Amino acid sequence: MSLPVMFLFIITGILCISIAILAFYAVEAFSCLCKPKCACSNNPPTSIRDLPQATALLRTSKLSSRARPNRRLVLAFSISNAFTTTDPAFHKAFLSISKSLLRTSDDSWPILVEQTRAILKEPVTSTIENGISLVSLVQSVCFRFVLFKFFPSTQGITISSRTVTLITRAINELWISSKCSCAPGHSHMGSKKKLLRNTLASIFPDSPTPCPDEENPLNILLPAYETLWRIVLRCFLQVAFAYPPSNKFISTTVRYRAAFKSFLANPSSEQFTIRTKDEYCSAKDIVYESLRLWPPTRRIYRQEHENGAVLAVDVEFLQRTESIWGDEAGEFRPERWVIMNGEARTSDCKEAWMPFGKGSFQCPAIKMAPMMIGILVGGLIEEFGNGEWLLGDVADGLGDKQLENGRESFAEIILTKVGKEGKKK
Ligand code: HEM
Repeated sequence: MSLPVMFLFIITGILCISIAILAFYAVEAFSCLCKPKCACSNNPPTSIRDLPQATALLRTSKLSSRARPNRRLVLAFSISNAFTTTDPAFHKAFLSISKSLLRTSDDSWPILVEQTRAILKEPVTSTIENGISLVSLVQSVCFRFVLFKFFPSTQGITISSRTVTLITRAINELWISSKCSCAPGHSHMGSKKKLLRNTLASIFPDSPTPCPDEENPLNILLPAYETLWRIVLRCFLQVAFAYPPSNKFISTTVRYRAAFKSFLANPSSEQFTIRTKDEYCSAKDIVYESLRLWPPTRRIYRQEHENGAVLAVDVEFLQRTESIWGDEAGEFRPERWVIMNGEARTSDCKEAWMPFGKGSFQCPAIKMAPMMIGILVGGLIEEFGNGEWLLGDVADGLGDKQLENGRESFAEIILTKVGKEGKKK
């Protein structure tokens, strides 16, 4: 081949490649312009971080303003409950059922403690040699606890650890995928939903098939289980494996554990609030402080008009902000609930503490759920926080790092069984 021909050949090749690259980017840019924007980028929520504005919004909310942002839950789980309805009569009836399920007599608390101890002996699917995934453990314990407390009809049914894992995983994945059309797994929601429905049917054999949304067990299961596991996980991690930053003396943590031990020995509403000289804080102070730092409902959403702005009351921000809670707002200090009794800023703190919401739709479990958390955390400490288990290989626990509050945090943590002397088995 002569030199000019070869030159022409190379130039033509370069031109063709450049045209192909340009065409590729042009097509990409055009398809981006044509693609409908997802909801979270089209209408991102407006964060409400001003306390008076937040409480005013929550106190005046209408059912429809809550139901709109919760439509994603109807699509993902086919639920029909207080969170999704616009019908005041249905809302009232649902609330009354919830309240009667939540009612717990003095005699029933010791039964819940015994049941929690029994649940803690149940196997967990994600068990490896001498180790258990911490998140799977907490999810499975909370799930079984919620079944026992709110679904007495399931008590005679043997539920395998595999079934529990399938359900808790599917709930988690659907929750994440339903957030927006751009969320991971959004396109596979149909199959996940089917898997969840079929697996649930094995626990609730008396439910009609197909199950109408109004009779979906998830109507109660979701608000109860989804909040409990997240707070129980963090409160347990903090009390069993982290040492408070402002007081590095391990004795503080020992006192917290002792408060849970006393509560489990006498599970009554009085004992929950008792502050002894030795323990100083009550189990309730510790649970309240955990709910302040790690509210399971990090934001409460409202949308007043169709296609209007989505408002997000930033509960997590309001519960950690220094202008309300002082310089140590970001620290885990259950003692603040003891000191706060006599402090001037107490009323602002009380107003800003809203893990159970505020106003119109405040959670009916506001009195009972903290005690349930106390029982679950106390049980976990008894079984796994007794020095025989380590967080993976971290012999010193979590140190003074502040725990994260993300849904997917701690997914990698494995509880590892060690000998009594602290050596890996
Ligand atoms: C740690 C535990 C819990 C937390 C942090 C929590 C949190 C909340 C929050 C923030 C709201 C208000 C939502 C809004 O304003 O849109 C709420 C409402 C509600 N929660 Fe809970 N919850 C917990 C446990 C439970 C349990 C165990 C049940 C069991 C039945 C339950 C049932 C309900 C119901 C039915 C409502 C709707 C109230 C209404 O519409 O008036 N929650 N919860």
